[in-house]
Amino acid sequence: MVIAIDGPAGAGKSTIAKLLAKKLSFTYIDTGAMYRALTLKAIERGIKTRNTKALVAMAQDTLLDLAYTKDGSLRVLLDGRDVSADIRSPGVTRFVSDIAKIKDIRKIMLSLQRRLGREKDSVLDGRDIGTVVFPDADKKFFLDARFSERVKRRYKELKALGMPGVTLKNISVDLRNRDTIDSTRKCAPLRRAADAIYIDTTKMTISEVVRALAGALRRSARSPIWTRR
Ligand code: DC
Repeated sequence: MVIAIDGPAGAGKSTIAKLLAKKLSFTYIDTGAMYRALTLKAIERGIKTRNTKALVAMAQDTLLDLAYTKDGSLRVLLDGRDVSADIRSPGVTRFVSDIAKIKDIRKIMLSLQRRLGREKDSVLDGRDIGTVVFPDADKKFFLDARFSERVKRRYKELKALGMPGVTLKNISVDLRNRDTIDSTRKCAPLRRAADAIYIDTTKMTISEVVRALAGALRRSARSPIWTRR
């Protein structure tokens, strides 16, 4: 079974997807982390974002994997190296949308995401899960929030990670920039799937959002989750 959660940066997708996956005993697949890991590798190798050919060759020659610790936290492995913390850096965040808009990079990520998603019952979060990666997902959600709220949340999140030099101003510029690139790119832009449930989380707490999603799943006639457990 596949649950798709899409939406713009800072709408709370990863927090909610993680909690929902835990509640259902599903695997959480953070697809943004995959694009971030490729971006980190490109930065480390000094490959410019306009050098599409070199970026695609690099992606073809990359081993990406997601691993889970005993306490259930997700680790992102780039060629066997744990890069879970490094991929959250402002440098990676700044360039990730430019890498994620490259069609041939997305093709490589698409097959990896489909393979991982089919291996086990999964909750995937991203931008194109319900529209492109799993258009036949068992349930789709689109999480959104007011821009100023998304900036605030990202700020808190990065501060909690101890990221230096984080200001509301530079987060706001970054989010605006990524919103534009992610939603206007030609290949698999950020879109709400016609059959996705839209949730504006601006005024909701994390547990309210998780409850809303779990409630929608429970009510869903197509979802066998609640009768199976
Ligand atoms: O969710 P995130 O901020 O970690 O995602 C990082 C970037 O990756 C985001 O700006 C757009 C891209 N992305 C994408 O294009 N498709 C996905 N399924 C997930 C993320």
